Amino acid sequence: MEDEKMEEHTWWKEAVVYQIYPRSFKDSNGDGIGDLRGVIEKLDYLKELGVDVIWMSPCYKSPNDDNGYDISDYRAIMDEFGTMEDFREMLEGIHSRGMKLLMDLVVNHTSDEHQWFVESRSSKDNPYRDYYIWRDPKDGKEPNNWTSYFSGPAWQYDEKTGQYYLHLFSKKQPDLNWENETVRREVYDMMKFWLGIGCDGFRMDVASLYSKTPGLPDGKGTTGLIGHEYYQNGPRIHEFLREMNREVLSHYDIMTVGEMSGVTIDEAIKYAGKKRRELNMVFQFDQDALDHDPDDKWGRRAVPLPELKKVFSDWQIRLEGKAWNSLYWTNHDQPRTVSRWGNDGRYRKESQKMLYTMLMTLQGTPYIYQGEEIGMTNSVFDGIEDFDDVEIHNCWKERVVEGHEDPEALLKAMRFRARDNARTPMQWDDSDNAGFSTGKPWLKINPNYKEINVKEALADPESVFHYMQKLIRMRKENPVAVYGVYKEYQHDNEQLFLYERVLEEEGQKARTMYVVLNFSDHEAEFEKPEEWDGAAKYLIGNMSEAPLENRTLQPYEAAVYLKS
Ligand code: GLC
Ligand code: CA
Repeated sequence: MEDEKMEEHTWWKEAVVYQIYPRSFKDSNGDGIGDLRGVIEKLDYLKELGVDVIWMSPCYKSPNDDNGYDISDYRAIMDEFGTMEDFREMLEGIHSRGMKLLMDLVVNHTSDEHQWFVESRSSKDNPYRDYYIWRDPKDGKEPNNWTSYFSGPAWQYDEKTGQYYLHLFSKKQPDLNWENETVRREVYDMMKFWLGIGCDGFRMDVASLYSKTPGLPDGKGTTGLIGHEYYQNGPRIHEFLREMNREVLSHYDIMTVGEMSGVTIDEAIKYAGKKRRELNMVFQFDQDALDHDPDDKWGRRAVPLPELKKVFSDWQIRLEGKAWNSLYWTNHDQPRTVSRWGNDGRYRKESQKMLYTMLMTLQGTPYIYQGEEIGMTNSVFDGIEDFDDVEIHNCWKERVVEGHEDPEALLKAMRFRARDNARTPMQWDDSDNAGFSTGKPWLKINPNYKEINVKEALADPESVFHYMQKLIRMRKENPVAVYGVYKEYQHDNEQLFLYERVLEEEGQKARTMYVVLNFSDHEAEFEKPEEWDGAAKYLIGNMSEAPLENRTLQPYEAAVYLKS
């Protein structure tokens, strides 16, 4: 019982995580591609921001069909990023500054250039054949109707042996066969290798997809992602994760977060449940789903604020005392926060600050994606040739080249939703190539880099950077921001998001925090909830300090109070 009520304190609950997409972070040698020595150069910057943990998107050897999420050697560093020596130096630099490093664990699939797959495809009786999912054709076609996350069938025919292999992502990302115990051993050994070097945990790529329903039945749907009900949170997934925990995770003081496509709250409570010995937390996609057109993955719909509040409230309330939340607005797969949920024009700074005030005052571990701390925006992509992402190009081929859809309409949707928006190089200063590289950057720099860059942000006391720094400090100084129990007020209000956090711990005075957020681009009338009685002091906010009382809030105003 005791355990249920009091949230156990751990470092990974108190940590603020910063995600680096190494290809776009900092190029140290002028080839236009970010690299590990570039990361080393910027460690002091990250320390200054105040983050505790760095999650690095994959830096392993890869032919880069999906920018490193297609790994050809799990124990080597990508040539373009540097060497194992550079990696060790980077890790040492992270540790000596009191920070930690999460590796990206991509083990639902490998690259088709991984030695395992090269062996596997070479013959039907090769010892590695069963490392992947091979099936005979059915009536001369694909073994089932599943489609890939990146368009088209999830199967690729291989001439040599006359069978198809499964790939839930690109055809250069064949799915590993988790039913095969030897595969699981290989994965666990590889994890031990990185933990042995001193890494502090893993962000687990599409970890809800490892277990496929035996028999691989045809999916029920006819459009979109067909077949997902047979592999999202599949039949053996919890068994696999518990095995991984028993074999590897439980032996180290590390942090784990699973990226869980298709996760429900009930499933999350299993994945991250206190006593279940699986993972520490998961990334959910309910918030991401909100602004999608249900019939078209690229389409966009307006989101009434109560819908957004409901998603966050549900996760806060239902995980309370049972499992730990992760909190994020964006990552390398999603548009920029301020362009999606805020206002990237007139109120760019205000709205970005407001959105991150929310993230830093909810229960869970917050994740900041690179560039968010200076309020980077979606970029400008004119034609299809401006995009890099395999997801975009596959879809373009399917829908425009082969499907004869209106190219302008699809382009328009892609410009907003494209993952490339988050992947344009980091804007360090207003010099050529935004100070990212002395060479030609692998992806076009956002043209707004002259105004939006780190140098400018560091010089401006009112910048998003300095506010983010203050938010992080506030979180460290106020355990209520980390552990407090959440309660929402005035749910139907269409402009304001209001909530409190209460921390009652044995032998200590209860602490209460009140959070007031204006999500709209116009003024809003704030009526103080009756329950918010007594004196409260202003703790942090993005406008001038104001008392907790009925008043008119500025567009995108955020104000946080501590009850005294
Ligand atoms: C995850 C990654 C994404 C990648 C996919 C396949 O969703 O975040 O970038 O394309 O998995 O590995
Ligand atoms: Ca480089």
